[in-house]
Amino acid sequence: MTYQDFGLVNTNNMLNKALKHGYAIGAFNMYNMETFKAILAAARETQSPVILAVSESALDYMGDDILMSMIRWANIKPNENIALHLDHGHSYEICARAIDMGFSSVMIDASKLPFKDNIEISARVAKYAHKHNVSVEAELGVISGHEDKNTKSDISLFTHPDDVVEFVSKTNVDSLAVAIGTSHGAYKRKSNSETLRFDILDEIDKLMPGFPIVLHGASCIPDVLVDIINQNGGNIKNAAGIPIEQLRRAAEMNVCKINVDSDNRLAFTAAIRETLNQDKEIFNPRDYLDAAKSAVYENTVGEIINIMNSANRLRNN
Ligand code: G3H
Ligand code: 13P
Ligand code: ZN
Repeated sequence: MTYQDFGLVNTNNMLNKALKHGYAIGAFNMYNMETFKAILAAARETQSPVILAVSESALDYMGDDILMSMIRWANIKPNENIALHLDHGHSYEICARAIDMGFSSVMIDASKLPFKDNIEISARVAKYAHKHNVSVEAELGVISGHEDKNTKSDISLFTHPDDVVEFVSKTNVDSLAVAIGTSHGAYKRKSNSETLRFDILDEIDKLMPGFPIVLHGASCIPDVLVDIINQNGGNIKNAAGIPIEQLRRAAEMNVCKINVDSDNRLAFTAAIRETLNQDKEIFNPRDYLDAAKSAVYENTVGEIINIMNSANRLRNN
């Protein structure tokens, strides 16, 4: 089946509209029924376009058939502007498999390869994806952080604007993830004064006006969620995210897709810890998983409104 059969859309129109009007589309990671239902309900409640992001490891965890059965169950309509996106695909093969399965958008992340090899593999993915009208994101520069076995790097190599022009012209990708100081996971900033490299975004915009830029590692890591975890038996120390004002500023510039995973991981975990701690007799998993689902829903609604500024954008803008 193709993604159109599932009522999904690719990300091209939604990103271009967001860019034009100075907001961003949230790409929220999903990995089970709870996160899927919560993110979908948040998008529907706020009348916002949304990108359902599925990493390679999340796909392994759910299994292709279970994921696509949930998507089919949701009865998504094209005017809801919902994309199903492969997050950090590390090979041509996984991107092609996702496209064949019904994903409407893929990311080929070959950013750790030499520039020339990154171009070669990204161009190959773009060629296959475009044959199926699927949108393609690639990555240039290295976004640091420790999150899982597939997505980790110790360094943050800022993206060079001149490279962006060459990379995009040689690969034909539709959007690009850049390294401007964000990082994956819950430990992002060393000091409060650290800011994102807006000068790099500016320079890219001068060289390639209207080209969609993506921000990975963009969770804001709400203190309130970290506190709930720590007050209920957790031990997350020195967590720090990207300040909301900086994300908003980026969204008003050429950043039109903002990736969030860690914030919802914190929301999910905080709700489970709190529920179990408040009632020590609970042992029905539905009790705490339902609380986790609600927490992811609340967090996603909040971020759609306060960070992405994408609520009520389904019609003209
Ligand atoms: O940027 C990476 C995402 O947060 C996915 O992480 O591979 O552990 O699902 P994951
Ligand atoms: P966070 O770890 O900041 O949520 O980043 C998520 C991400 O970039 C997914 O691709
Ligand atoms: Zn990422």
